[in-house]
Amino acid sequence: MTKALEGVRILDFTHVQSGPTCTQLLAWFGADVIKVERPGVGDITRGQLRDVPEVDSLYFTMLNHNKRSITLDTKNQSGKAVLEELIKNCDVLVENFAPGALDRMGFTWERVQELNPAMIVASIKGFGPGPYQDCKVYENVAQCTGGAASTTGFRDGLPLVTGAQIGDSGTGLHLCLGIVTALFQRTKTGRGQKVSAAMQDGVLNLCRVKLRDQQRLAHGPLNEYSQYGEGIEFGESVPRAGNDSGGGQPGRILKCKGWETDPNAYIYFITQAPVWEAICDVIGEPEWKTHPDYAKPVARLPRLNAIFARIEEWTMTKDKFEAMAILNDRDIPCGPILSMKEIAEDQSLRATGTIVEVEHPERGNYLSVGNPIKLSDSPTDVTRSPLLGEHTDEILRDVLRFDERTIDELQKSGALGTPQQLAAE
Ligand code: COA
Repeated sequence: MTKALEGVRILDFTHVQSGPTCTQLLAWFGADVIKVERPGVGDITRGQLRDVPEVDSLYFTMLNHNKRSITLDTKNQSGKAVLEELIKNCDVLVENFAPGALDRMGFTWERVQELNPAMIVASIKGFGPGPYQDCKVYENVAQCTGGAASTTGFRDGLPLVTGAQIGDSGTGLHLCLGIVTALFQRTKTGRGQKVSAAMQDGVLNLCRVKLRDQQRLAHGPLNEYSQYGEGIEFGESVPRAGNDSGGGQPGRILKCKGWETDPNAYIYFITQAPVWEAICDVIGEPEWKTHPDYAKPVARLPRLNAIFARIEEWTMTKDKFEAMAILNDRDIPCGPILSMKEIAEDQSLRATGTIVEVEHPERGNYLSVGNPIKLSDSPTDVTRSPLLGEHTDEILRDVLRFDERTIDELQKSGALGTPQQLAAE
């Protein structure tokens, strides 16, 4: 079966997490992704958070599946010449260097356009144009500057960052969509274009509901927030709302049986209005169905703490999976707090390819998250990440059509790395 992006070739100049997530998706959709790495070192994540000595870290392997790796010193004159050839032979250049790094390397947008007017140049930076445009940015900086941290956590506690990598992987997703959109437009115009995704913008896009609430504040309190029911006044900006639901249906995380010893014995419970009567029956408060303090959603808002305390009395009598089964039977929206261990062992996630077991020649088998986006005509086969420079010769020969003499000269020039660096690969 052909793949959706078969025939598209990506010059992958990405590193760390944000860019590699994007190019990994493109590879999963069938693009030929050529990862250009610094000789001897490669993507810095190869050596970060290593669990097995001398072996590519899980950080690297889990972000670079289905790619090929070429080592190239792009500051070496011959290396630059190879990069020029790669630009001529690829459709998209993806990078997430610090601001200005590609220009300093000599590959400005204008230069890339001269070499290949059809090339799409896609970049992730921490910030868009403005006062912070030159700053280097990592995940948590983006979470803090994109509005996530100020709105995450409890009202009376510190701002919090989330474990979901919304700054890195989230922006990688945004960039990926920009790239396929630009590829589609190119089928009509024949021209390349610049695609930019700033991490601050990506995080803010995911915090859209909080900007909604910021504006609602001008018209009165946010009455679905717990603090409204607690009689605590709102300030000038959207407060942290703990585990309150972000939508119009109040929700909380509640204890389940075993919470005293299991840090994940909890369930997210939503008091969705259409199933209120079913909730009353389940928790043993049938009179709440008609009681004026509880029957209507508006009447419940100032009493949410008491209502959830009563629901929790019930959830504490069940383990989270029992509670889930009983509630789902009645269409009451809920979600058990699944630990990473439970997710790793979940057979249904394995059956759909969302969790995959991958074989690696140096580390053996490991688990990874597969492609979360399923295309019926372009199924994803997850293959291991490349070793550093594993495909250098193959790419020079098959993609750039260099002959043996040219490859030999390149090796001598140091463009592919010094003899020591090559020995280290
Ligand atoms: N050959 C020769 N030089 C290379 C090379 C290669 N194959 N690949 C990279 N380099 C050079 C770059 O040209 C740059 O050199 P310069 O500083 O002289 O211009 C240098 O390596 C370092 O690149 P840089 O991107 O600045 O890495 P860093 O480790 O200093 O910064 C980040 C890392 C992530 C903070 C930074 O890249 C960044 O802000 N990126 C944009 C935002 C982003 O994606 N952040 C999230 C990462 S998950």
